[in-house]
Amino acid sequence: MSNIVWHDQAVTKADRARLAKQKPCLVWFTGLSGSGKSTIANALEQELHRRGFHTYLLDGDNVRHGLNKDLGFTDEDRVENIRRIGEMAKLFVDAGVIVMSAFISPFAAERDMVRGLLDTEEFIEVYMNAPLDVCEERDPKGLYQKARRGEIQNFTGIDSAYEIPRKPDVTIDTGTLPVEACVGRLIDYMEANGYI
Ligand code: PPS
Repeated sequence: MSNIVWHDQAVTKADRARLAKQKPCLVWFTGLSGSGKSTIANALEQELHRRGFHTYLLDGDNVRHGLNKDLGFTDEDRVENIRRIGEMAKLFVDAGVIVMSAFISPFAAERDMVRGLLDTEEFIEVYMNAPLDVCEERDPKGLYQKARRGEIQNFTGIDSAYEIPRKPDVTIDTGTLPVEACVGRLIDYMEANGYI
């Protein structure tokens, strides 16, 4: 980029993390619509908050109301959606926060791109593994029905692709596990790996 110079800052990420007494990271939930991303991310944030950690939750529907309200659901727009969210999440991690994000993020290349924005141990990819028929049965927003009726185009799992993560850090079978058990698995992982 010409004529733009990066400025190093006097207070570093490590300084902020030390003050916050926590190891900042990004817990990246990925999965189909209805797989439980928002529910589990919310419940995890609640538990971390209860334990005194400084957290923030970035959620698909909410970010699309503001920063990304100009984007739709073509492949191109989803790529841009995740690019912006990745950059935003990186700023939060830089600020010393434990961040949770709940986006379908259907493409492996963009998830890997976000991983690449952070230090290796800062990115935790969590695959919300629920079969399409279970998600469609839940259909909390009635969107699968609309997609099947042809009222929504490019719906993930119906006429838009979802690439299953090849090597997620954590896989959660949300089709069968209750919410508390899902949160328990994530807390165990974060404790075992020194995040909390
Ligand atoms: S993506 O693929 O990561 O850019 O999507 P994301 O930003 O997470 O937004 C997904 C939510 O938008 C609603 N919605 C759709 N999802 C998928 N495909 C289509 N065409 C679509 N249209 C609207 C839907 O409520 C998604 O929320 P979740 O929580 O995943 O159900």
